[in-house]
Amino acid sequence: HRDLTGLAGLAPWEILFLLDEAEQWVELNRQPHKRADRLAGLTIINAFFENSTRTLLSFEIAGKRLGADVVNMHAAQSSVKKGETLIDTAMTLNAMRADAIVIRHASSGAVRLIADKVDCPVLNAGDGQHEHPTQGLLDALTIRRAKGDFGKLTVTICGDILHSRVARSNIHCLTTLGADVRVCAPPALMPAGIEAMKVTPFHDFDAALDGADVVMMLRLQQERMSGQFIPSPREYRHLYGLTLERLAKAKPDALVMHPGPMNRGIEIDSTVADLAGRSAITTQVEMGVAIRMACLDVLTRRSRGVEGWA
Ligand code: CP
Repeated sequence: HRDLTGLAGLAPWEILFLLDEAEQWVELNRQPHKRADRLAGLTIINAFFENSTRTLLSFEIAGKRLGADVVNMHAAQSSVKKGETLIDTAMTLNAMRADAIVIRHASSGAVRLIADKVDCPVLNAGDGQHEHPTQGLLDALTIRRAKGDFGKLTVTICGDILHSRVARSNIHCLTTLGADVRVCAPPALMPAGIEAMKVTPFHDFDAALDGADVVMMLRLQQERMSGQFIPSPREYRHLYGLTLERLAKAKPDALVMHPGPMNRGIEIDSTVADLAGRSAITTQVEMGVAIRMACLDVLTRRSRGVEGWA
C-alpha cells in the first residue's frame, strides 16, 4: 500500500491527480445529499495526539460522506495517558484491522514511524514541524480554483516558517507545481538554509508582498517556541501583520489565505481575514473536506481491488 506522509518527492502529476480527484467531491459537497458509498464497509481510524478542529472534523466528515465507518481516538482520553508507547498504540490500532489510519502527532517523523509498522495506508494529519500534506493539497486546490496556472503565480508565505509544517508542505507542493514562492519571517523564525527549498527568503514583509498573487499568513506557534527571540505581539503586527494597508502592496486581486487557527490582530487583521471577495479562508476549509475525500479514496483503492495510485 501507499501512505501520504508528506508532499516532498511527489511528482507534479501526482499532486495534480489528487487535485483533479477532489473536484468531484467539491461538487458533491455542494449538493443537499452529500453521500457516496465508495468506501462503504471500510473502517478509518483518526488518531489525534495533538489538538485539531479543521483537520480532525474534515477527515471525519470526508470518511462519512464516502460511506466509511470512522472512529476517532483522542490521545487525551486514551491509554497514551497511561504511558503506552507510540509503537504499542500503532500495533493496537493495526490489530483492529483499520483500512486507513489518519494521524496527527506533535513529533516530526512520528507518522512515518507508525506507517512503517502498520498494514494499511497512513495519512499524515500534521506531524510536528515536518509536514501537513492534506493542508498543502487543499491550499493548492484553493489557489488553482481562484488563480489557475501555478507557473504564472507568485505566492508569499509569511509568519512562523521555522515551526510550520503547513509552510513546508506548501513549499514542496507549490514549487513542484512551478509557482514562484517567497517566504517571509523575522530572522529568528526563518529556518537556516531555506533557499535549498527553491524559495526566496525575505525579512521585509513589504518587499515580500510586492506584486504577489497569493498571500498566505501563518500562525505564530507560541506552543512550539523554545528560546527563540520573537517580537512582542504588538511589534510582530507592526512588522509582519497583514493589514489592509499592507495588502495593497500585493496585486489588486491578490488572494488572502490562512490555514487557521488565526491569531486575529497579530498575524492578520480582521478587516483582511473577513474581506469579501479576497479572503479564501473559509474556502480553504471547504476544500479540505474534498481533498481528504480524494486522499482517502485514492489511498484505499488498492485494498479495494481498484486500480490505484502507485
Ligand atoms: N489548519 C489546521 O490544521 O487546523 P487544525 O489544527 O484546526 O486542524
